[in-house]
Amino acid sequence: MKKIGYAVVGLGIGKAHVDAAAANENANLIAVCDLIPEKLEKVKARYPDTLTYTDFEEMIKNPDIDIVSICLPSAMHADFAVRAMEAGKNVLVEKPIDITPEAAMKIEEARVRTGKIAGVVHQNRNNAVMKPIKEAIDSERLGKLVLGTFAVKWYREAHYYIGWHGTWDMDGGGSLMNQAVHTVDLMQWLMGDVESVSSQMGIYNHDIETEDTTVTAVKFKNGAIGTFVSTTCAYPGISTDIQIYGTGGSIEADADVLKLWKLRDSEDEEEEEEEMLEKYGGGNRAAETADPMLVTGHQSMVNDIIDAVINNRNPQIMPLEAIKSVKIVNAIYESAKTGKTIFIK
Ligand SMILES: NC(=O)c1ccc[n+]([C@@H]2O[C@H](COP(=O)([O-])OP(=O)(O)OC[C@H]3O[C@@H](n4cnc5c(N)ncnc54)[C@H](O)[C@@H]3O)[C@@H](O)[C@H]2O)c1
Repeated sequence: MKKIGYAVVGLGIGKAHVDAAAANENANLIAVCDLIPEKLEKVKARYPDTLTYTDFEEMIKNPDIDIVSICLPSAMHADFAVRAMEAGKNVLVEKPIDITPEAAMKIEEARVRTGKIAGVVHQNRNNAVMKPIKEAIDSERLGKLVLGTFAVKWYREAHYYIGWHGTWDMDGGGSLMNQAVHTVDLMQWLMGDVESVSSQMGIYNHDIETEDTTVTAVKFKNGAIGTFVSTTCAYPGISTDIQIYGTGGSIEADADVLKLWKLRDSEDEEEEEEEMLEKYGGGNRAAETADPMLVTGHQSMVNDIIDAVINNRNPQIMPLEAIKSVKIVNAIYESAKTGKTIFIK
């Protein structure tokens, strides 16, 4: 079988895509593109057969490339993803899919127009602990969802915000659009579609134009309520709280680490919790020892898009799914700016 030709544009987090493509036995890392020659040289030193480009248009003319990972500043995603698809390439787009629903829709429209495959990176869905949580919700073991409390309490030093981070035009926001969008995606995936948001935000400890802290009251379409907090001011970086309470029980995790598992329908509530904490209480590392086939992080997303192209199937996260978190983030900003409750269509 011919190997899938892989290319990456943008060599910040793009380096994780490079390593993941190189590690996939069904793919060949063909090319990388960045404006900064030193970044290209570093990839070349690691993977000597890789072609390097500073001009994206030149790179996507290469007929050996089947998939391009788009790892550029967030507001550039739609433009570059559409250009890649128009040139006959499939794409894997970093999160957020773009910074507005309108821009993100251009990726969806190009996907339909060109017939190419477009996936979006939200790798935290593949954290080992997410599978049993999602199953407990979908099988209604948690009963009727009542409350979801989500809090991304991270920290970023001042130097992080030099450049495009924390700007409205390129980052589309601050702590919420950049860092917490992962957890916004998890929130809507686990709790269901969001009906409305009421928010506050501010800039507390950084010299930026967007925000470094947001707080939101959330109403879900299924009637549940919740809160969403994001900050990059919680020194030195505290937790990613994912806490879900239903009429059937309670589940709490911190990022990929299970903290609490209490389900009323358990035959033996304590024994089940003990087992679950043993398996998932140490994060992906603990789960990996229990399940050697487990693949998480960027490797899982790059493997998925390669397999999707080989088998001509949909990737794990398609544009219309990834647009949901961008709509929620923009609604939160609108609510914080206007003081109004914003309903999401
Ligand atoms: N999934 C995750 O966990 C994760 C983590 C970090 C970043 N991201 C996302 O990845 C994207 C990139 O973020 P980053 O932190 O890597 O940013 P970065 O600034 O570190 O890297 C972006 C790179 O793009 C290059 N670039 C800019 N314009 C270019 C052009 N026209 N042609 C070629 N190269 C160009 C820059 O030189 C830079 O090397 C963002 O959308 C961000 O939200 C996702």
